[in-house]
Amino acid sequence: MYTKAEILSLQSLTKAFIESQHNIELVSLRKVLKFHEYQYYVAADPLISDYEYDVLYQQLINLETANPNLIVQDSPTQRVGNSLNNNFETIAHLVPMLSLENSYNAEDLNDFDRKAREGAGLDEIAYCVEPKFDGASISLVYENDFLVRACTRGDGVAGEEITQNIKQIRSIPLSIPLSQYGIQQMEIRGEVIMSKKSFHDFNEKLKAKQLATLANPRNAAAGSLRMKDPKEVGERNLDAFIYHISYYTLTNGYATPSLLKTHSGSLELLWNLGFRSPQKEKKVITNMEGVINFCTHFEIERDNLPYEIDGLVIKVNDFFLQEKLGMTSHHPRWAIAYKFKARQATTVLESVEFQVGRTGAVTPVAKLKAVAIGGVTVSSISMHNEEYIREKDLRLGDTVIIERAGDVIPQIVQSIPTLRKGNESIIQFPTTCPICDYPLEKEETEAVWRCNNPECSAQIVERMIHFVSKDAMDIKSFGDANIRKFYEMDLLKNIPQIYHLNFEVIAKLEGFGKKSVDNLMAAIENSKTQPLYRLIYALGIRFVGETTAKTIASHIHHILDLQNLTIEQLQSYEDVGIKVANSIYYYFHEPKNIELIKELEALGLNMIQTNATAVDGNLSGLNFLFTGTLMQLKRSDAETMVEARGGHILSGVSSKLNYLVVGEDAGSKLEKAKKIASIKIITEADFVELIKN
Ligand code: IVH
Repeated sequence: MYTKAEILSLQSLTKAFIESQHNIELVSLRKVLKFHEYQYYVAADPLISDYEYDVLYQQLINLETANPNLIVQDSPTQRVGNSLNNNFETIAHLVPMLSLENSYNAEDLNDFDRKAREGAGLDEIAYCVEPKFDGASISLVYENDFLVRACTRGDGVAGEEITQNIKQIRSIPLSIPLSQYGIQQMEIRGEVIMSKKSFHDFNEKLKAKQLATLANPRNAAAGSLRMKDPKEVGERNLDAFIYHISYYTLTNGYATPSLLKTHSGSLELLWNLGFRSPQKEKKVITNMEGVINFCTHFEIERDNLPYEIDGLVIKVNDFFLQEKLGMTSHHPRWAIAYKFKARQATTVLESVEFQVGRTGAVTPVAKLKAVAIGGVTVSSISMHNEEYIREKDLRLGDTVIIERAGDVIPQIVQSIPTLRKGNESIIQFPTTCPICDYPLEKEETEAVWRCNNPECSAQIVERMIHFVSKDAMDIKSFGDANIRKFYEMDLLKNIPQIYHLNFEVIAKLEGFGKKSVDNLMAAIENSKTQPLYRLIYALGIRFVGETTAKTIASHIHHILDLQNLTIEQLQSYEDVGIKVANSIYYYFHEPKNIELIKELEALGLNMIQTNATAVDGNLSGLNFLFTGTLMQLKRSDAETMVEARGGHILSGVSSKLNYLVVGEDAGSKLEKAKKIASIKIITEADFVELIKN
């Protein structure tokens, strides 16, 4: 889109504008801002910090406010819409938006290829293969270089006008140099998506506000298009891939641009015009055999992409051939979707189990009629809390759509009310603990109901499961099932009893050979020398995760030193906020907890911060945070390297952070860090260098 020379000149203009805030010329400033929007949102290669962008953007607003006659419709400031403009009028597409035929295996694809070859009268056809983006489809119309209209797909013939909302998506340019190609009007198609990262960040924000989270990025994207307030759309950080030119007219005297002979050429043209087309993702393959190979291999890549795709689209590359093949009433004969294994399925919500966790939180768990999705059988899914059930209006007996996406745990997407028969019933949330019958309580600021009975057997068992878990005391060969079993058999009633189990009885139990008993004994014994932070984490103090446990361990000598620290002192530690400080303070002022710790000390568990973690290395006193995907190192190894050299790992960006190590696809943490001048932002390679010194 931008030539090397243009990039260099725009960069030097940027620098000049940032350095001297006066004498900024409005038209050039607008060019500079457009260029940086492109670099950030389309080329995914930002050249200035968010902060610098914001400063320049504010300058543009100031200049435009002072000279309103100089405002143009494609100014970066003109994305900010007015909610009154959103009336979602129905508008006919210039060309109907057809859908694609689906295929699921090599046989379907060979069938499609055979028909296409017959239709074209050829032995072999070259195809262009690209991702099938899992979002919401849109159609855009540009006239005389400007975006004039954006619509949803609707019924394919007509959609709803959503121009104001679409203008919030920064990878969609407000103007494009169509006239350079002799094009007067152009209608294009694409997909609005939410990246996995934006989806995750958005859900975190919802969670923080105690609002129901969204089920998947597709729903998040689709639900955004018809929002009343364009500003809210802006907050969702959406993206758009444009993959199809459905219609264009030429300016008098111009010939069809040479790129518009093939589909891959049209993707290149779209890219040159400034769109995020699948230009880099696409692949032209000379025959169906190659396409099939590509499809089967690509499915594995699916989880490595920063956005969701639900398959690949295979298109006859040559436009002349596309024309020759034409369409049926539903789909083009020149394209087909290859769908990956479904990650959604419908099933029946048969019952609800209320589980009590180690902090007493009561979680409703849906028991479903077992169903296979993506190669795994699912019969039970967490429904988080009561609000989640109410928001989704889930009822016993409902048919529900469930989804299992990549590494995401299964979710209920929605119920299907139209399939209700009338015998479905409202899910009643219990008022007392399903295990100990203690009345449940809910704090005003929380969404969960809790059993606050510390003697509740479910909590005792869950606390023991947490204590032995991998990131805590790491007592291998214990396992949840054995803890439950030993508890029921009265062999294990509390944490200290882990250290005086009756192995004579255990050795006689079914499934316990000599070897497994020996392993368990050794693992329990070894856990006594675990570093202090593991013990702190294992105690299950609310809000104290592994990182916080490491931080507090590094500030004390003996665990009971924590009894003498004030809330203010605790808060002065990196990453310890008021909530965490309070929780630690109260934990160490509860006599029962102190009794437990003393008992564990008497049993020989390490209570002391040893030198192994409090090393005085070359990173001593420095705070680090890793973000994005590291290419060379495993994140946990990199963190251990920092700690082994005396550095600390923080869990979030704050002014206490010294180094942010940035991997691939870094997101909000990077953006936040850019705004704090004292943070050094370094690459993985820089980090490797740094630790060598
Ligand atoms: S081409 C006439 N290409 O999948 C050709 N569609 O059932 C129209 N989609 O409605 C579609 N990624 O919303 C095409 N790379 C891609 C796509 C894609 C996602 C969606 C689109 C369409 C549906 C087809």
